Amino acid sequence: MTKRIGVLTGGGDCPGLNAVLRAVVKTAIFKYNYEVIGFKDGYRGLVMNDFIRFNYNDVSGILDKGGTILGTSNKDNPFNFKVERNNKVEYVDLSDRVIDNLHMHGIEYMVFIGGDGTLTSARDLARKGVKAIGVPKTIDNDLSGTDKTFGYMTAVDTATEAIDKLHSTAESHHRVMILEVMGRYAGWIALESGIAGGADVILIPEIPYDIEKVYQKLQERKRRGKHFSIVVVAEGAKPKDGEMVINKIVEGSPEPIRLGGIGDKLADDLERIYGLETRVTVLGHLQRGGRPNPYDRILSTRFGVKAVELICKGEHGVMVCLNGDKISTIPLEDAVNKLKTVPVDGELVNIARAIGLCFGD
Ligand code: F6P
Repeated sequence: MTKRIGVLTGGGDCPGLNAVLRAVVKTAIFKYNYEVIGFKDGYRGLVMNDFIRFNYNDVSGILDKGGTILGTSNKDNPFNFKVERNNKVEYVDLSDRVIDNLHMHGIEYMVFIGGDGTLTSARDLARKGVKAIGVPKTIDNDLSGTDKTFGYMTAVDTATEAIDKLHSTAESHHRVMILEVMGRYAGWIALESGIAGGADVILIPEIPYDIEKVYQKLQERKRRGKHFSIVVVAEGAKPKDGEMVINKIVEGSPEPIRLGGIGDKLADDLERIYGLETRVTVLGHLQRGGRPNPYDRILSTRFGVKAVELICKGEHGVMVCLNGDKISTIPLEDAVNKLKTVPVDGELVNIARAIGLCFGD
């Protein structure tokens, strides 16, 4: 009998999701003659049995497309699923329904493409007997089981281009320009785009900042004849005597806290305390949209092909990962719930300091 596999994309979208889907479906159909069922909108499709049967044409021409043709959700968790009963909202465990749906389709293996939230649920389904393969996705690059997640390098490209553009207007107006970037509790996007874009100050969650130190850096630049400065701030950055700025709480989401607003706080402080003319750009979801860059297209393809090859070998309960320059695997049990943050005395922070970048400490 033909082997049937399932796939879903969960969590926040990011560039490269379609490239993984394309690689999974093409490898499954061409190389192994498997059937592939795609569940729509992340775990919602798996719970509600909302699916498509993939054929070759569905994944043709999508390599360079942002988003995901399957849809996604960063709110749905099969173990804590939002339902409405008698006009009341309740959160219930519908993981058994997921198992029933998989049995009904005759699906032997599931490929879960997502970040920590999606992969934690995949691990929990694996504990209930689902043969699960994880593929690590997130612009935040904060999964400890892999050297890189796909989507991240494209987000760094987008943030770097924004810094390049802010440079010219900052210089014309002799202003301080702040760029707030995403990344949740990890400062990777801010750090790498800040270095690539030639920022003057980079503020990341891993190094709480002192506003006075930031001001001193901006003054030092003025003394050198530079009457403008670029500050890149990660959404999770915080002052050394303060907290992260929360933008909103999304009820029922596996990770309900949404950060955002530190750029405005920093600008207010620089203007109020030191009288510096400051403007803020919040890059927001531009970092998640659009075409994956070549690096992410290749990484996504490598991950997708590897996932199906593991299935052919009968392996499961693992996440595919990048280890140095090799694609390899790590048990799902070890891959989740461990944040990969920026090492504060790692090479990247040190080279940035060596060329005079300020981290506000
Ligand atoms: O995890 C990806 C990410 O874009 C984070 O960088 C950001 O904090 C969060 O998702 C935003 O989530 P939402 O799309 O729900 O606003």
